[in-house]
Amino acid sequence: MSQIPPEVEAHHKIMRETFFAVATPLLTPLNLTLLVLILTLAYLRLRPQSAPSLPPGPQPIVFKTFTPRTLLKNNGTDNSPVYLAVRGKVYDVSSGRNFYGPGGPYENFAGRDATRGLACQSFDEEMLTKDLDGPLDPCDDLTPEQVDNLNGWIERFDEKYLVVGKLLPFRKTDFH
Ligand code: HEM
Repeated sequence: MSQIPPEVEAHHKIMRETFFAVATPLLTPLNLTLLVLILTLAYLRLRPQSAPSLPPGPQPIVFKTFTPRTLLKNNGTDNSPVYLAVRGKVYDVSSGRNFYGPGGPYENFAGRDATRGLACQSFDEEMLTKDLDGPLDPCDDLTPEQVDNLNGWIERFDEKYLVVGKLLPFRKTDFH
């Protein structure tokens, strides 16, 4: 076994004594308490934070097809969204609930094909397609003035509202 040379042993002894001479007076209860406090604060500062949560995004828009009958369900009653159709495009006009929602001045258009009514500037009942399971109103008898008027409304709706689907006539299938 190799012996530690006496001068190295002496050096170790000095180092040990110096360490204890310096360290022992520092190990007071107050210093230990401060050390624990500093370590706790450092841990609280540096521990991994949970991932920041992002605010929920807008609802995804699902482009759907509607028939006059299925469109009617979206007429704003029972807090449902308010949709209306113009020239085959279905708009979500929920943000205009004051106009089209229950009790609004244009509630007749809610859940309906509003093409003829908008073209003719009339929200009378007879402007709306009566037979929800029949063909769509082709609106091919409109005057150029009414077509212009309609196009003005379409422009406004395209700017203001989201298109959420298209309106198709109901077709009987084997399932009906
Ligand atoms: C007595 C006559 C009428 C008055 C005083 C009137 C008044 C108004 C007013 C103040 C607005 C709100 C405009 C805005 O803030 O953007 C509006 C919008 C509208 N009006 Fe009339 N209106 C009348 C007749 C009609 C008629 C006959 C129709 C039939 C088509 C109609 C359809 C609409 C529509 C579709 C809107 C747009 C709502 C939207 O931006 O979604 N209005 N009207």
